[in-house]
Amino acid sequence: MRTKMVAGNWKMNKTLQEGVALATEIKEALKNQKPACEVVIATPFIHLATVSQVIEGSPIHLAAENCADKASGAFTGEVSAAMVRSTGAEYCILGHSERRAYYHEDYAILREKVLLALENGLKPIFCIGEVKEEREANIHEQVVKDQLEGSVFNLSAEDFAKVTLAYEPVWAIGTGLTATPEQAQEMHAYIRSLVEKKYGKQVADDTTILYGGSCNAKNAAELFANPDVDGGLIGGASLKAPDFCTIIAAR
Ligand code: 13P
Repeated sequence: MRTKMVAGNWKMNKTLQEGVALATEIKEALKNQKPACEVVIATPFIHLATVSQVIEGSPIHLAAENCADKASGAFTGEVSAAMVRSTGAEYCILGHSERRAYYHEDYAILREKVLLALENGLKPIFCIGEVKEEREANIHEQVVKDQLEGSVFNLSAEDFAKVTLAYEPVWAIGTGLTATPEQAQEMHAYIRSLVEKKYGKQVADDTTILYGGSCNAKNAAELFANPDVDGGLIGGASLKAPDFCTIIAAR
């Protein structure tokens, strides 16, 4: 049985104090709720060490939103996978479309980041997804195939088993435009078929594939009802504890 998961991606939001308050509010809410899935919050780097202490003893797991593509050294302003791991974070989001688009992270850079995350005991949450023009041109399947082959299908089956995939159609991120449950299921099933071709049925069955892109308290349940949608990677709606907890309850 693969892990079901709801993960929040805070992106570049919340001061340290606001972030601590949000993590505290989620922790308190989950005391009564007893989540039936793995709950993860991905915070900015500067929040990690403090939030790690805040969520101790709760069912919440911690993720970074990125890590460096170098192990250590003279890379001013960068944060390594080892540093992330040392805060208590267990996961690291990699390959987010915002990193690909605004910070020019290509397949090779992401391949390095994934390897460094794994070497340092972090489980990657690896994002893939097409832009609007690619879907309109009907090449969305080829796009995600290239993204997987470019950065994670080089891994051994043992390492790949530590990776969570997140399908995030770029046209649905922050736009209020969600993929329909049918579109999400279709793509998730396709992604799982690619994993099966590469790693076999067992690994494919065990791979957690999240949906991301304007997933919210209202539409989460119908997205999660699909057999290949194992949960969500939530942006905007993860910044409000009640909404985030409603999404967790929908999984
Ligand atoms: P929104 O939920 O704000 O559309 O963001 C999705 C996302 O990018 C999560 O990583």
